[in-house]
Amino acid sequence: MSNGSQTVRVRKNAQQLGNGQDDLFWYAKAVAELKSRLFNDPTSWRYQAAVHGYNTAKDPDSGIGPFPRSQDQERFWSQCQHQTWYFLPWHRGYLAYFEQIVADAVVKVGGPPGWALPYWNYSGQNPNSRLMPDAFVNPTLADGTPNPLFVDGRNSSSNDFQLSDQIVSLQSLSHSPFAGDASGSDPGFGGPQTAFSHFGGTSGLLESVPHNVIHDAIGGLMGDPETAALDPIFWLHHANIDRLWEVWTHRDVSFVDPTDASWLTGVTFELHDSTGAIQSYTASQMLDTTAVLHGYAYDDISDPLRANPALLAFASRIQLMARLPHPPHLVATSKVPINLKVPITAAEVVFDKQTVQAAAQSLQALPTPRPPRVYLNLENVTGTGQPGTYEVYIDTPPPGQEPRPQNGYFVGLMSTFGLEAASRPGGPHAGSGLTTVLEITEQVQHLRSQNRWDESRLHVLFVKEPPPQMAQAMVRARAADVSVGRISIYYH
Ligand code: C2O
Repeated sequence: MSNGSQTVRVRKNAQQLGNGQDDLFWYAKAVAELKSRLFNDPTSWRYQAAVHGYNTAKDPDSGIGPFPRSQDQERFWSQCQHQTWYFLPWHRGYLAYFEQIVADAVVKVGGPPGWALPYWNYSGQNPNSRLMPDAFVNPTLADGTPNPLFVDGRNSSSNDFQLSDQIVSLQSLSHSPFAGDASGSDPGFGGPQTAFSHFGGTSGLLESVPHNVIHDAIGGLMGDPETAALDPIFWLHHANIDRLWEVWTHRDVSFVDPTDASWLTGVTFELHDSTGAIQSYTASQMLDTTAVLHGYAYDDISDPLRANPALLAFASRIQLMARLPHPPHLVATSKVPINLKVPITAAEVVFDKQTVQAAAQSLQALPTPRPPRVYLNLENVTGTGQPGTYEVYIDTPPPGQEPRPQNGYFVGLMSTFGLEAASRPGGPHAGSGLTTVLEITEQVQHLRSQNRWDESRLHVLFVKEPPPQMAQAMVRARAADVSVGRISIYYH
């Protein structure tokens, strides 16, 4: 591949590496080298992770310095963009400079130039794709020395994190537009339109699944944004998310990145390059991967949805419900915060008759009247610990009967990745927590067709099933404390 005259580096599937002196082999050597650098060196392993997020209380090296100057910590640390349309471009720049730092270290330890960051495609066709690449799993190498790619405390000590179909789902790739509106309806493929956003608010669809839920599933350092980038698998996870953005932009001509000036150049991000010099970038410089820094491409950006007719049919049914100008209507809310207990919590959402009517009239008045697109909002989720991911179901039991997940519909996953950062009162969103938006249009249409949609009340169930054989995950789930501030339903 080339960007005119120059050859760009190619990021490869980690599942096809791990034999001999390839990019995975040199990654381990370079990570060991980066780990030997002092904390106040911007190219050190710990500094690079702190750029994503840092919290002294969670530092596995117990806050051992030497620390950079405090004004540098404030300027360069805890910069990761989440719950925002900057999620994808910020992480693309972060990965590119990290790749440059590792590539220089590879040469320094005797490897070849042009090293590229491998990716972990957990959603691949082959079921083995869901297994964490072996290079990350063993605490020691064949010669008995510590494995630089291993970290302690993940949810599984084997390569099997029991990633379900829902966790590795690529449904988000069928969705456009890129930008969401953060008003209770479509969160967008790439996230809602916001200002600089470190943590708090609504995740875009790709960020929710598979991004957030993979963090939850791996757990340990990966389960918290303030430590996640200390786990060497973090970078392969993000290379894959970055690759999925490439897949999305190439799969359909109508799938385009935002053209708003506020997205393209509205926020400038800063970090350090491999020489330790300060560099800055905006989203506008992150659109063409062959022109990002040294230039890179992926070995495979073919469309995985082509192999999935059911998903494509679903997507086109939903996209047919044209996005005509129609304001979202808040039609139903829960009345009290919901404390999530292991393993099942049910909550009731009550409709407001007047707004239901107003929404119906407004949809009837459209040039082409249509049923509402329906969005379930799980708002202001706050708490402590790493509770992981919840399965969310809706049910409409007859009077006097308990709601049950198996009588209703599975509507999606709710991640709690970043829960603590988003719950901190001093944080940028004043501790208002995380919000997950799930589109439930299809499920509501099924309920309607069975006369089970009465628009007076709906039950929402949160199911936390600690996977069997995951003792650590169960302990964490029990220690966690998490509540949903409000559940709401919007008709759009
Ligand atoms: Cu900025 Cu996967 O996290």
